[in-house]
Amino acid sequence: MKKIIIGNWKLNLDHLEAIQLLQKINYSLPESIEDNIEIVLSPSFTSIRSLQTVISSDKLKIKLSSQNVSQYSSGAYTGEISAAQLKKLEIEYAIVGHSERRTLFNEVDSVVNDKVNRLIDSDIVPIFCFGESIDERKSGTYLNFIENQIDEGLKGLRKDKVNKLVVAYEPIWAIGTGEVASLENIVEVLDYVKNIIKKKPFFNDDNIKFIYGGSVSPNNAEDILNSKIVDGALVGGASLDASKFIEIIKAVEL
Ligand code: 13P
Repeated sequence: MKKIIIGNWKLNLDHLEAIQLLQKINYSLPESIEDNIEIVLSPSFTSIRSLQTVISSDKLKIKLSSQNVSQYSSGAYTGEISAAQLKKLEIEYAIVGHSERRTLFNEVDSVVNDKVNRLIDSDIVPIFCFGESIDERKSGTYLNFIENQIDEGLKGLRKDKVNKLVVAYEPIWAIGTGEVASLENIVEVLDYVKNIIKKKPFFNDDNIKFIYGGSVSPNNAEDILNSKIVDGALVGGASLDASKFIEIIKAVEL
């Protein structure tokens, strides 16, 4: 399965800075890599149109993701952006259930689930994030907690509708802290989650990627990305630096 490396730029860069970073990344990307690794950038909504124009006019192989989507399709929801609007911008992916949205914007599992369903209705691949806090890890309840996030967040999906799905383990204690999860931690959780998802009615062997995010950097990328169970990475801070992001991509053994 092709590995996927996603850069989550979070609340950074205006659209001009975003174009510059896209061009820097693209410039340093060897062709052999482009054909063998899926590279996805997730900018702010305000940059999507500009990046999409550059990508389509220069025929770049880099793909785009949004960082969020509305749980509603249309109507009186001021400030919301729908999956259909994103699809028109040729967005292929959307991050949902990121812990920053869950904890800072009170997105509960049912809202995350609605968002996943709206994305699938619009043929956008959800990058579904889940992961425990430090308290859940320390108390030893993290696997149950994660199982519940998976059950609730991916409820009601049907095999005939789910073409592709990315499932991203992002332990909250590893996000933006520099404290990366050990490979043992990652393998334990992804293996556990894979076994849960295998029993779901939407399970499809080829099209679900299981990835890791949380302080991924050039220092730890090689170990994480070349593990058989890890299909890719969701990179925050290091994706804002073109050379670090490229180093992470190059860490994948082709
Ligand atoms: P960092 O790579 O900055 O820890 O962020 C991870 C993340 O939240 C990606 O979505």
